[in-house]
Amino acid sequence: MLIDSHAHLQDREYKNDLDKVLERAAQAGVGTIICIGFDYPASQKAVELANSKQNVYAAVGIHPHDAKTLDEQMLEKLYNLALNPKVVAIGEIGLDYYRNLSPVEQQKKAFVEQIKLAQELKKPVVIHDRDAHQDVLDIIKKEKAGINSGVMHCYSGQMPLAVELIKEGFYISFAGPLTFKNAKKSHEVAQKINLERILIETDCPYLTPEPYRGKRNEPAHVKLVAQKLAELRNKELEEIAYITSNNTKRVFQMDS
Ligand code: NI
Repeated sequence: MLIDSHAHLQDREYKNDLDKVLERAAQAGVGTIICIGFDYPASQKAVELANSKQNVYAAVGIHPHDAKTLDEQMLEKLYNLALNPKVVAIGEIGLDYYRNLSPVEQQKKAFVEQIKLAQELKKPVVIHDRDAHQDVLDIIKKEKAGINSGVMHCYSGQMPLAVELIKEGFYISFAGPLTFKNAKKSHEVAQKINLERILIETDCPYLTPEPYRGKRNEPAHVKLVAQKLAELRNKELEEIAYITSNNTKRVFQMDS
């Protein structure tokens, strides 16, 4: 069985056909899906979905784009939401200097506050890092963000950063771009790092893998990421599915 470790099932892209999307995931061998929050309503919806579907789990958190919405009251609301037993992580949180939709200082503050929230709850963090590698790493180290482990989602960095992150207790997650021909850096990282630290994800509805690039993404396509990883590591798909699923259960402290 495969696990899609990072999906946005609550996205409005699925409002008309979520059941079909979940059916196709099951047919592709995707047994479990982690639905990740990006703002408060999306976090609430992730928890609702997790409560209604046995094989869906949730993460709650405020994405750096919405960092300006994170105040004391919001932190308390997230804390309460995270008490639900199907919430396995705080995320996605981090820094995004590519789109810079919230001012940098606010992004950093929201990132740190949510790392602290995860520590209070003894939960791992799911981190979004776009064009902010050095600041993300500095904050991870300073705040000991990997103390309850965590995931660097949709990894796009190079080998030295991956090594540092693993040292800090993190797992490295690959998404659809791993299937792109020109993703040489990611291929190198996926070939070299410890397989016990690799997760796979779709980040759907975004980042659709080949050969569906350009279309809406969905959890069934995590199989294409797994196949690419199997090819890069010279292993059978079944072995990659087994290892990455176990890694996901370990980082998110899931028993089933
Ligand atoms: Ni995401």
